[in-house]
Amino acid sequence: MNLYDVIGGAPTFERLVHAFYQGVAGDPKLRALYPEEDLGPAERRLRMFLEQYFGGPTTYSQERGHPRLRMRHVPYPVTLDMRDRWLRHMLDALDSLDLPEEHREVMRDYFFRAAHMLVNTPD
Ligand code: HEM
Repeated sequence: MNLYDVIGGAPTFERLVHAFYQGVAGDPKLRALYPEEDLGPAERRLRMFLEQYFGGPTTYSQERGHPRLRMRHVPYPVTLDMRDRWLRHMLDALDSLDLPEEHREVMRDYFFRAAHMLVNTPD
């Protein structure tokens, strides 16, 4: 069994990403980076990506192709400040799921590494 199944599959990822985007919506500096008026489509893309990354359905790549996350973030100025805002909302969202610590740890670790890799602009 992979982490996707272990933590509860689709409904868990829906809750995680929805809570995350509520945080983004309430953070004007971070929100300003998101090009679309409606955060719904961005929410869906991130959810599909995370589901795929943690061993769930591969809908993300079927619809969007290879993730190439660094390349896809080039249009957005990801500074250390933006990275920290993004991480704060994701870690809060993760905590809101009340997952067992061992699973939370695996996800937290991934988010730290990936978010740092995406920094592309000095503060
Ligand atoms: C663990 C770290 C992160 C992951 C896994 C991640 C993942 C993604 C994914 C999958 C997309 C959609 C790409 C596509 O299919 O077009 C996306 C878009 C985006 N990301 Fe990230 N991201 C991360 C960190 C960040 C950070 C630190 C920022 C900083 C502000 C950021 C800002 C954005 C913005 C503005 C978009 C465009 C929204 C959209 O239209 O989808 N991301 N990200």
